[in-house]
Amino acid sequence: MRLDTIKQPIAAELDVFEQRFREAMRSKVPLLDKVTWYIVQRKGKQVRPMLVLLSARLFGPITEASYTAASLVELLHTATLVHDDVVDDAYERRGFFSINALWKNKIAVLVGDFLLSQGLLLSVRQEQFRLLAIVSQAVKEMAEGELLQMEKARRLDIKEDIYYEIIRQKTASLIAAACSAGAASTATNEADIERIRMFGEKTGMAFQIRDDLFDFGDDDVGKPLGIDIKEKKMTLPLIYALSQTDRATRRRIINLVKNESDKTEKVNEVIRFVRESGGLEYAREAMYRFRQEAFDLLDGVPDSPARQSLRDLLVFVTERRT
Ligand code: IPE
Ligand code: IPE
Ligand code: MG
Ligand code: MG
Repeated sequence: MRLDTIKQPIAAELDVFEQRFREAMRSKVPLLDKVTWYIVQRKGKQVRPMLVLLSARLFGPITEASYTAASLVELLHTATLVHDDVVDDAYERRGFFSINALWKNKIAVLVGDFLLSQGLLLSVRQEQFRLLAIVSQAVKEMAEGELLQMEKARRLDIKEDIYYEIIRQKTASLIAAACSAGAASTATNEADIERIRMFGEKTGMAFQIRDDLFDFGDDDVGKPLGIDIKEKKMTLPLIYALSQTDRATRRRIINLVKNESDKTEKVNEVIRFVRESGGLEYAREAMYRFRQEAFDLLDGVPDSPARQSLRDLLVFVTERRT
């Protein structure tokens, strides 16, 4: 699925969004301006603003509130990536150095805070309080999700249901907020807005499973590989592989993750184990189940170019290579 085709129903609107997004990044503080300029030069896939605008377009023409939602959601996403790379000790992002790699943790933390508050201020200034409520809920959940993940990483006792709870909070909550805020900017029927929020949540689950699969591959995805294991994050492929093996192997692998994950060859051994246990296929199937649930939800709104693009975007999310 090509992003250009997917963007078609909202191409002009995405340009307006980009303009707004860039403006919100500006600051009079030279250091801050330097860092945000760097961020703008290496933009991501912009999946979330696309979801906002397409969800809005399902129910009517794009409004001022739709643009605010798109900018706020992408600002927030950017802020969480900057913070996430501090939390994960990751030095690569979008194919280049992360903010913490170039400017260190102290600056990355403050830049993340700046981006978050600029986003929230956009909606305050426009008196978009519903948007503020939707997005603040997601911000809270993302922090909870990352902390739950850290707690589990310490104990290495995570089961599938906890994994799903973690990814629902840390990733699906913002994608659900993107869809729901977009829909709320044009729709009047609450049931429609809730349906699209749920579509976003399922899409977000599939999105994070796809991301977690990258960690076990060897494609260049513009960010570090094997880092989840290095950081002792137990994701679905590993959780499944461990559940299928004998006790001795389980103990050996858990010991590698717990005590030797700073050694590349040990991380590679864990990756090999997961690949050979069918962990990747299992996770891919789980991802397709979320995708199917998302498709089914989308079938509940009338057909339109925007709906077709949302379907295609969901395919893109699950087949993407970065
Ligand atoms: C990365 O999100 C963070 C996750 C939730 C896995 P994206 O893959 O959307 O990042 P960019 O914005 O395109 O770089
Ligand atoms: C998603 O988890 C992080 C956020 C919700 C910000 P990851 O830690 O897997 O994201 P990447 O792989 O660093 O982009
Ligand atoms: Mg990370
Ligand atoms: Mg990841």
